Amino acid sequence: MGKLKALDENLNLTNKRIILRVDLNVPMKEGKVTDKSRINKIIPIIKEFTYKKAKVILVSHLGRPGGKIDEKLSLKPIAPILESLLNSKIYFSKDSYGPAAIEKSNKIKSGEILLLENIRFNVAEETNEENFAKELAKVGDIYINEAFSCSHRAHASVCEITKHIDSYAGKLLLEEVNSINILTNAAEKPVSCIIGGSKISTKIGILTNLVKKMQTIVIVGAMANNFIKHKGYNIGKSLYEKNQENLLKDIIKKCETNNCKLVIPEDVIVAKNYESEGELKFLNNIDDTDLILDIGESTVKKIYNIIDESKTILWNGPAGYFELDKFSAGTNKIAKKIAEKTKNKSLTSIAGGGDTVAAINKSSYSDNFTYISTAGGAFLEFLEGKILPGIKVLEINE
Ligand code: 3PG
Ligand code: MG
Repeated sequence: MGKLKALDENLNLTNKRIILRVDLNVPMKEGKVTDKSRINKIIPIIKEFTYKKAKVILVSHLGRPGGKIDEKLSLKPIAPILESLLNSKIYFSKDSYGPAAIEKSNKIKSGEILLLENIRFNVAEETNEENFAKELAKVGDIYINEAFSCSHRAHASVCEITKHIDSYAGKLLLEEVNSINILTNAAEKPVSCIIGGSKISTKIGILTNLVKKMQTIVIVGAMANNFIKHKGYNIGKSLYEKNQENLLKDIIKKCETNNCKLVIPEDVIVAKNYESEGELKFLNNIDDTDLILDIGESTVKKIYNIIDESKTILWNGPAGYFELDKFSAGTNKIAKKIAEKTKNKSLTSIAGGGDTVAAINKSSYSDNFTYISTAGGAFLEFLEGKILPGIKVLEINE
């Protein structure tokens, strides 16, 4: 990977309109943000630019509206959160490009902040369309990518825009790229990874690659249900992804060929629904009305042993439905164990993924991890040495 273009610290930014591509794709429930990690992370960056008297134009997506306006995915509810964290007014533009957005970007005063509506309300964002990117570029004078977590997407506000405006890699993005690079290049063996969460199809694909680099892969969370089902157990009403049989077989085979131990839960916490209490069950006792919502004690013990034997751990994806305290024990215990081992310097720990970060924060062990990335897909793809399109366009001599 080539060196990335960074903004000259001494550049006079007074009155310059900076398009700051951030990732405000935060977890929400009933219109409320449930984890502010991604927002908190960019606050110092925004402050720095307002302090330097620039005009900050925030561009982000939220969710996957599929190129259509979807009020439930409006970025508007994020504005008051930014206001309170920045102690500064946030102007909002429901147009994310075009004359109205340009006018607003010019109208705000130096040191002020404008938040543009969800960029994915425009179909041309995800198709990386040239004309759209050109128009979007007119909203600013300088473009900065501070959204490492979106840099695996060849989307207009990440890629094509850089061809039409003076563009740079932001400080956080550089820090993130450097940290993951150092950690992966110097990874001490045995390396294990714990993969969980519910974005099954996106992660199963990446597992195929991880198999070659890891000594052990532990599968937890909803995606483990696929493996449990594949082993012939009843998973009741649990979440799982259909038609993944061939992929599963392939992963299992690749693990064997690459001498990578594949570990799946051997006991789980089930409930009849989200309201009822959890019950510990071994896999052969799960019945048709059960929902798997966390890992069980024996599985936790097994994971503890793996963490004890590892020198480097990658963790992506919670072990259960951690949003509800009663199903967060597995995730918390993993966080605690990794944090302790990292603190006593016997482990290098890298965690990433929006949900993982939310889970670690909730468990209050976040300070002890070696590095925590707020990126999900981008984090894993980068770990695999894939070239992220949004990073590639920021390389010097591209
Ligand atoms: C993420 O949350 O992983 C990033 O914001 C990218 O979102 P996406 O997976 O919907 O492209
Ligand atoms: Mg994603």
